[in-house]
Amino acid sequence: VAIQREDYAPPAYWIDTVDLCFDLDPAKTRVLNRMKMRRNPEVAAQPLRLDGDELNLARVLVNGQGAAFRMEGSQLVIDGLPDDFELEIFTTCCPAKNTKLMGLFVSQNTFFTQCEAEGFRRITYFLDRPDVMASYIVTLRADKAAYPVLLSNGNLVEEGELPEGRHFAKWVDPFKKPAYLFALVAGKLVAREQRIKARNGREHLLQVYVRAGDLDKTEHAMNSLIHSVLWDEARFGLPLDLDRFMIVATSDFNMGAMENKGLNIFNTKYVLASQATATDADYANIESVVGHEYFHNWSGDRVTCRDWFQLSLKEGLTVFRDQEFSMDLCAEPSARAVKRIEDVRVLRTAQFPEDAGPMAHPVRPDSYIEISNFYTVTIYEKGAEVVRMMQTLVGREGFARGMTLYFERHDGQAVTCDDFAQAIADANPDSELARRLPQFKRWYSQAGTPRLAATGHYDAEARTYTLAFSQSCPPTPGQSVKEPFVIPVALGLLGADGRALPLQLEGAAQPAGESLTLVLHEAEQRFTFTGVDEAPVPSILRGFSAPVVLQFDYTREQLLALLAHDTDPFNRWEAAQRLALGAALAAIGDDTRAPDAPVLDEALIAAMREVLRHPTLDAAFKELVLSLPSEVYIAEQLDVVDPQRVHRVREAMRTQLATALFAEWQQAYEDNKDTGAYRPEPVSAGRRALAGMALANLCIAARESGDTVWPGKTLQRFKDASNMTDRFNALTALVVAGHPLAAQALARFHAMFKDEALVIDKWFGLQASAPDRDGDVLPLVKQLTRHADFSIKNPNRARSVIFSYCNANPGAFHRLDAAGYVWWSDRVIELDEINPQVAARLARALDRWSKLAEPYRSAAREAIARVAARPGLSKDTLEVVSRALAP
Ligand code: ARG
Ligand code: ZN
Repeated sequence: VAIQREDYAPPAYWIDTVDLCFDLDPAKTRVLNRMKMRRNPEVAAQPLRLDGDELNLARVLVNGQGAAFRMEGSQLVIDGLPDDFELEIFTTCCPAKNTKLMGLFVSQNTFFTQCEAEGFRRITYFLDRPDVMASYIVTLRADKAAYPVLLSNGNLVEEGELPEGRHFAKWVDPFKKPAYLFALVAGKLVAREQRIKARNGREHLLQVYVRAGDLDKTEHAMNSLIHSVLWDEARFGLPLDLDRFMIVATSDFNMGAMENKGLNIFNTKYVLASQATATDADYANIESVVGHEYFHNWSGDRVTCRDWFQLSLKEGLTVFRDQEFSMDLCAEPSARAVKRIEDVRVLRTAQFPEDAGPMAHPVRPDSYIEISNFYTVTIYEKGAEVVRMMQTLVGREGFARGMTLYFERHDGQAVTCDDFAQAIADANPDSELARRLPQFKRWYSQAGTPRLAATGHYDAEARTYTLAFSQSCPPTPGQSVKEPFVIPVALGLLGADGRALPLQLEGAAQPAGESLTLVLHEAEQRFTFTGVDEAPVPSILRGFSAPVVLQFDYTREQLLALLAHDTDPFNRWEAAQRLALGAALAAIGDDTRAPDAPVLDEALIAAMREVLRHPTLDAAFKELVLSLPSEVYIAEQLDVVDPQRVHRVREAMRTQLATALFAEWQQAYEDNKDTGAYRPEPVSAGRRALAGMALANLCIAARESGDTVWPGKTLQRFKDASNMTDRFNALTALVVAGHPLAAQALARFHAMFKDEALVIDKWFGLQASAPDRDGDVLPLVKQLTRHADFSIKNPNRARSVIFSYCNANPGAFHRLDAAGYVWWSDRVIELDEINPQVAARLARALDRWSKLAEPYRSAAREAIARVAARPGLSKDTLEVVSRALAP
């Protein structure tokens, strides 16, 4: 049964206070829930309906008296209640058997909770919806030896001993909150602690809790937390509002992390780091996830969502905030640009396909069957782009003013995306956002990625250059016709020598400098620039100023000029992507192409060579420019996809780049291989990334030439490395090149890190995503799932093997014999009985089946139908596969 956004109605009852008492026991935890409730006078009188899921109900008391109740499905229904009353509910549940990891569960003898979106109902009967906000008092009781640390939201107000070796702790949260922000943790944990004084003088205790052996891997998370506290205060004037702020890590977690008030619970992957075990990418992810969860304290906890259709209200905004945080922490402007390119790459390789597939939904969806399925790249990353466009339209300061107004207006409330956009517009009444707010909000309501087609015309006599734009948006499920969007287009013009031309827009009073932002709002619009002395090269959509597909018929010469000279780093990178993509698409479309015919022409190779050799460009930027578009991104540009053909062409491009630039790769390696004492910051990380890329290319070139020197050097570097980034890059180089030395390196790596779960995840993931040679990856993946270290119940491990193969290795997954799809369907079915959220994610691996060429298309459809036909499927997985099969 689908839930509709239109059907929102305020709750019939309010819960003012909740007093929860837990007797924690893995097999049978007792939960006593005493609530002060009252009828909502604005809603017609009706019975109270409380949500519950997999609970054993023992007792219901209204004002201390036994009360009549009934069950309707999973809801507990009580009639004839007075206007104000106390409701006491006693239930038990079994955390040890909770493999869904929603509600209260046990991981490595420690209790954790995950309540967003609808997990609190697995702990007690409740009005489990975000617009019901209550004050919580929580008492935890447990065996003291087994569970010495007892944590919940807010402040610890009392603790002490109980008979029979038990103890208790009582926590009071000073802020009202919806149930999804509730959390508890109990177990044997240790904490890194840091006291800090905020700008406003208030002192706080920051804690990062982990298992005893992991304390030495918490420094980076703690530093990231400190930076987060200071940044939110400095950039948006939002201070930490609690005396104590806790982060706890667990190795069993469905997602990245969770922003429970004052007690964030994290996947270990986004907390634990040491230079020996974590890569630069891990360090960067930790910084941004710690920031993300911390920033939710305001954008999520202080102001939350009225209903789950508004999820992007907090997620889009908070992703935008964590992206800005990571950029602001960059010491160099070039590192900011690199971060922006990385974020756009995620958007285009994950969100654009989602927007074009059967799960396409607006940033504010209109309906869902299972809300867990809507924690998507559309809600998060596209949502962040929508917030970013608002900032572009009102300016950085205007946006900060808008944020201030938003928090002034709505602190302590559960609100909607409209409320947010209104606050930003109201704080900037003279902005393009305020002028076009209703139209701008189509970004919230219309799904699909807009196409922005542009053409340029130079009139030498009139010395004018005219850009004509037309926008359209393809139909998406349930939305066949789209209205025009408000699209900010940042642009500049380059002269023949690469110089930026001064911009004078026809009809504008002032010249605009070298870059300006046009705000499109009609299906077709044209703009003329005057005083243009030569036919310019337009640099359009600088910084990726809107989440659209820009269609402009660039000549190769124009793209080469942009790659060489554009002052906008994003478009400079984009020019190289367009050139490589164009070459790939031409080769893929060429039916007469010989298997090892070159894909890249001399001019492009020369341009890549120039970038690689460039004396001043950043290593990180070079690495991005030299990275070829992924198979997924290439496939998205095609109407009909033969994944094997895409794979072969991309491999051919890679081999060609490796061999043609052999001398430059050697030089790049020598120049960047030593980065001194390890520090996880963007500049040296960029050098490590480029050195790693160089090694991979040298190993590929060596494979072609029969050279043994570079593979030998790579193995040596793998052995000698002093940090995980260099070690893992060397290992990856051997694996990617398919070199025989890879086997011993992999064995050694496993032996070295057998007790480091997060590193073993990398070991599994690398093998499952290795390039396929004659169908060898699937048998290997099957073997990996029988490895003693494999467990499908642990989400990180399941992702490292199964998702790495099905989602990140198209060349190996899409097999002519369909064996990859059959194996996928078996795993979805197996996972669905254990953990529906993880299963439903995996179920999306074949989202884009309908654009596959035969025989893949029919085989994929059959595999999806096989999953859909499985009796007793969770609604999570059922929603995904039925949407995939919908006509
Ligand atoms: N709010 C969390 C975050 O983005 C994610 C929680 C996901 N929960 C879920 N059931 N899917 O930081
Ligand atoms: Zn979030």
